[in-house]
Amino acid sequence: MTTILKPHGTTEDDITAEVLRRFDATGEPRLRQIMQSLVRHLHAFVKDVELTEAEWMNAIQFLTETGHMCSDKRQEFILLSDTLGVSMVVDLINHRKPEGATESTVFGPFHREGAPELPAGGNMAPRDMKGIPTVVSGRVLTLDGEPIAGARLDVWQADSSGLYDSQYAETDELHLRGQFRTDEEGRFLIRTVRPVYYAIPTDGPVGRMLSATNRHPWRPAHIHFVVSAEGYEPVTTHIFDDADPYLESDTVFAVKDSLICTFVRHDIREPEAARFGLEPPFCTARFDFVLKRRG
Ligand SMILES: [Fe+2]
Repeated sequence: MTTILKPHGTTEDDITAEVLRRFDATGEPRLRQIMQSLVRHLHAFVKDVELTEAEWMNAIQFLTETGHMCSDKRQEFILLSDTLGVSMVVDLINHRKPEGATESTVFGPFHREGAPELPAGGNMAPRDMKGIPTVVSGRVLTLDGEPIAGARLDVWQADSSGLYDSQYAETDELHLRGQFRTDEEGRFLIRTVRPVYYAIPTDGPVGRMLSATNRHPWRPAHIHFVVSAEGYEPVTTHIFDDADPYLESDTVFAVKDSLICTFVRHDIREPEAARFGLEPPFCTARFDFVLKRRG
């Protein structure tokens, strides 16, 4: 019986094997590992769903549009990564924290450089007249419970309409952002408005993907933080309002139990709060951040 030898690369699996071989000579071992694993998984996915040519073109157009949607104010690729849960998987792999250290969560697409340095009690929301005035206070601590003086808190959130400053086309001004420092006892004090749940931007390809798959675009109310201090590992995280209806179904999968915090509403005048110019109704929330020493 004659064996008929197939010419090189005629089956789907031959192509996969050949592409993998082409990356064998990659000098940098980590790059080789990443490229070969990417090819293996990408080919397996295409074979698994038996992707049609129309679907392939649709995917190309989707990714092209995702790129076109990006600007210095809009990051549609981060939104895509967030809504596919990839950002949270990357977060969990990279920030395995010791018990007691504040857990991290997604960075999200709305951080901006250059937030103003504000004093303790400084108001991040001077132009938000609709929101419920809120004071967030707490301490930045070591794993042993010692205060960290001079820690920096880079803070940002959406306004009471559920929009970040960068989502207002008519202005470039920073709003609802601030950088705070802890005092000698590790304490910080932030004046803002109570965060509200908001929809991620749905006017782009990510929004279309959500609606085509019957997924809602909502994120539970939260405030973003990057907390850092000399000699400690910084943490990128949020605090979430425990009264929020979307805690269980955050569209970017970012909620962790340890980051949920109570926003207490006050309806009667309190002298302590009046010192900060807070008249009822207002809210207070307390949250301590715990950082792990480097190394
Ligand atoms: Fe956010």
